[in-house]
Amino acid sequence: MPHDLFDNLPADPPPSGGTSSSAMKRIDWLRQEIRRHDYLYYVKDRPEISDGEYDRLFRELSELESAHPDLVTVDSPTQRVGAPPLDELGKVRHERPMLSLDSIVDLADVLAFDQRMKRELEIQQIEYTVEPKFDGLSVELVYEQGRLVRGSTRGDGTIGEDVTVNLRTIRSLPLHLRLVSSPPAHLAVRGEVYMKLDDFHALNRTITERGDEAFANPRNAAAGSLRQLDSHITATRPLVITCYEAMAISDEPPDSHWDELEALADWGLPIPSHRRRCQTIEEVIAFHRETEQLRDDLPYEIDGLVVKVNRRDWQEQLGFKSRSPRWAIAFKFAPRKEITVVQDIVVSVGRTGTLTPVALLRPVEVGGVTISRATLHNADEVARKDIRVGDTVKVERAGDVIPAIAERIPVPGESRSDPFTMPDHCPVCGSAVGREGAYYYCTGQAGCVAQLKGAIEHFASKQALNIEGLGKKTVAQLVDQGLVNNLADLYRLTRNQLLPLEGFAEKSTTLLLDAIQQSKNVSLDRFLMGLGIRQVGQHIAKILAKEFGTLDAIMYADEARLQAVKEIGPEISASLVSYFREDSNRRVIDQLRSLGLVIEERPVSYSTGPLPLAGKTFVFTGGLDGYSRDDAKRLVETQGGAVTSSVSKHTSYVVVGHDPGSKLDQAKKLGVTVLSEQEFTDLINR
Ligand code: IVH
Repeated sequence: MPHDLFDNLPADPPPSGGTSSSAMKRIDWLRQEIRRHDYLYYVKDRPEISDGEYDRLFRELSELESAHPDLVTVDSPTQRVGAPPLDELGKVRHERPMLSLDSIVDLADVLAFDQRMKRELEIQQIEYTVEPKFDGLSVELVYEQGRLVRGSTRGDGTIGEDVTVNLRTIRSLPLHLRLVSSPPAHLAVRGEVYMKLDDFHALNRTITERGDEAFANPRNAAAGSLRQLDSHITATRPLVITCYEAMAISDEPPDSHWDELEALADWGLPIPSHRRRCQTIEEVIAFHRETEQLRDDLPYEIDGLVVKVNRRDWQEQLGFKSRSPRWAIAFKFAPRKEITVVQDIVVSVGRTGTLTPVALLRPVEVGGVTISRATLHNADEVARKDIRVGDTVKVERAGDVIPAIAERIPVPGESRSDPFTMPDHCPVCGSAVGREGAYYYCTGQAGCVAQLKGAIEHFASKQALNIEGLGKKTVAQLVDQGLVNNLADLYRLTRNQLLPLEGFAEKSTTLLLDAIQQSKNVSLDRFLMGLGIRQVGQHIAKILAKEFGTLDAIMYADEARLQAVKEIGPEISASLVSYFREDSNRRVIDQLRSLGLVIEERPVSYSTGPLPLAGKTFVFTGGLDGYSRDDAKRLVETQGGAVTSSVSKHTSYVVVGHDPGSKLDQAKKLGVTVLSEQEFTDLINR
């Protein structure tokens, strides 16, 4: 009987700490627990514990291993990174050549494929397994006695590069097979390493923020990340893997591809969750159609489906051509690039005021969607691609649905219009246009209706305050009718103001007002993200909320403090500081609070001791330039201090603004420390 790794855990976890042998037991238990949770999370997609609990298990294991270095093993979950950088990647001969697939796009070709299979097998009905064709890079993984011993890239199909240490950093890849259903002594599997679209975009943001060049697409990002000489770099890259073929199994392999996938999943390997067993080629075609519809909602890029004859004996009978199996085919999606003509170039104004040139196109269908507009991103991009009104262009739709112009197609003998230039004045409000490198922006701020509408839509959006029913159309009505001139006005809306609006009846009015009420309790990260500060999206908002805990702490942090946080660079910190320096922004935040908006905050506690201002009392006198009194009070309180109204000999500090009152004299008389506003800021930021 194989030792049952995951399903026979000791009922009670051994206690932490203690002697080396009890440490060993605890380490063993933690490793098994972590592997089990990895499996539940990555393979079953059914986590049983929160990220926080997982992190705690992981931290405890790391700490125990640091205390007992002799107990560290290479397959411990903590050892996913640790190998020293290499001079070059070694070479590996694959167990069996890594073949490619014939591909087709047309319906007629898939029907012909089915006919060919039936003819060659002399069978009337064939079952197929159909799964996504992942768009990444393929790898071979070898497990000996259940342990991952080698992983390699495809290379030339016969010899690939050894990327074992890099593959070990991929969290969805088990370093150890689950031993529940007796995995074979030897297993070679093939899978695809890729990057999810969100992760890809976030990675590119980080990379460009550092001043490095972005990856062109998720596939390049995955390949660049996996083929690193330093696995520490790979470990920071959000790679995932899905396995789709067993290339060699020392035991009797399962009878069908479907069962083989299930066996791989039983052993803990991630397999395609989107897959279907089809009894006829018509079912294959229907699945293809469904998947194509889903394509833009999938979190990763796929460029089609792979159709495989399910039964292994039939696969064997069909055999291979020189470079591809006869029993499988890549059934690709229609290309997402088409040719059309630029009818006009207009400039749209975004919620942060950025002016974006947009090409209006002769409508064209690209991968099943009709496209009539495509972003040209910015002035530099228009110049680089040299796109002008009247040009013939190739339009493409990337995985994230935003259509873009891939390139201009020169037409011999065409006479072209003048190059495009950005306007001097905002096309919406007429304010002057400012410029930052390639970016042009309207200086009208919330006075520009386009920015105001954008800001409100963003504030109400799902990722931010999540106010249902406050979409583009309603926001436009509210702004155009003069009912909403800033974010706080949303919370001043009344039934009588809404009822006369087009599309508003009793019920929809109640629903919207309720939704607005419900948004009044909001987490700090959502609120921050909702403010629409340039460069502060969901990810950065989360980081800030986690690091600072309260809005005030973020509002009053200076650039140096902000940049001390991982992932916050000079651009983000400058953007935050300039946003919160703006009076009108601070006023709106104050108004939101006094209208009942409650931001769920968590004052950051300092594990090394009490809060920095604990036990200190402050008195303010005179006007402050950078803070309202309320803000200053909250800042002191979040750091453990207190604010009182009169000076006594117990007062720690008197903070003096302009036109101070008698409290300053009082302070001098009692010998209490007097702080200027700047000194107060320094104290708070210390
Ligand atoms: S099966 C012997 N299944 O597509 C058959 N390949 O053009 C081997 N790919 O290099 C391939 N998803 O990297 C198979 N579900 C899937 C796949 C898949 C992506 C890649 C693979 C291969 C390329 C073939």
